[in-house]
Amino acid sequence: MTNIAIIGTGNVARTLAAGVARAGHDVVLGSRDPQNRKDLDHPVVTVAEAAAHGDIVVNATPGNAESIALLAAVRQHLAGKVLLDVTVALTPAMDLVHHGTSVGELLQQELPDTKVVKSLCTMDVSVMVRPGLLTSPGTVFLSGDDAGAKKRVGELLEDFGWPAASRLDLGGIATARGQEHFALLFVGVATALGAHVFNVEVVRAR
Ligand SMILES: NC(=O)c1ccc[n+]([C@@H]2O[C@H](COP(=O)([O-])OP(=O)(O)OC[C@H]3O[C@@H](n4cnc5c(N)ncnc54)[C@H](OP(=O)(O)O)[C@@H]3O)[C@@H](O)[C@H]2O)c1
Repeated sequence: MTNIAIIGTGNVARTLAAGVARAGHDVVLGSRDPQNRKDLDHPVVTVAEAAAHGDIVVNATPGNAESIALLAAVRQHLAGKVLLDVTVALTPAMDLVHHGTSVGELLQQELPDTKVVKSLCTMDVSVMVRPGLLTSPGTVFLSGDDAGAKKRVGELLEDFGWPAASRLDLGGIATARGQEHFALLFVGVATALGAHVFNVEVVRAR
């Protein structure tokens, strides 16, 4: 069992928390306003308390400058830890907030002592924790500078139901940019299908 802290209390944070608990791990959520988030299924504490508690910390915030600053403010609690970043920072018009970079890269710059891993952001949240909803899981991407951190995230993905063959390590954290930019294609596919519950699969030459 691993202590997992999820920063944020929105739809993604709650769905991930349910998946983490189903997988048998301890989960807390970190909120800017924990006093007013008491109706959730899992304990809600401050962002600092959550960051201190988690062996793996998951960023499920909007990924805008304010939420990057929120994590930077608790950097002492994140030092040496794995930060799994599932964010895509989008404007209301569905444009990317951070051009020429990514939330993953910005977080790694702000948190040099933390091992940032980007994953799960290329699919609907329901699929993140239940790839079994699909006819086959498809591909889940990982980006990060630390091989050990990606291995730990890979184990968590396995717990969610992602087999090793579905996990594709893209390389360093700079490759998070491609994952986040995929959001633009995700929106197009979802519109074409009239559905959000799908995934893409990388297939190789025969
Ligand atoms: N929905 C999906 O299927 C999906 C798929 C892939 C990626 N994502 C990404 O996952 C992230 C979370 O999505 P979501 O739909 O759960 O977002 P959301 O409903 O807006 O929730 C984000 C949470 O982050 C916290 N937060 C921290 N700093 C914040 C700030 N400056 N402004 C607003 N909230 C802040 C809030 O919790 P407190 O108020 O308690 O602090 C809030 O509940 C986003 O980056 C999104 O793009 C979503």
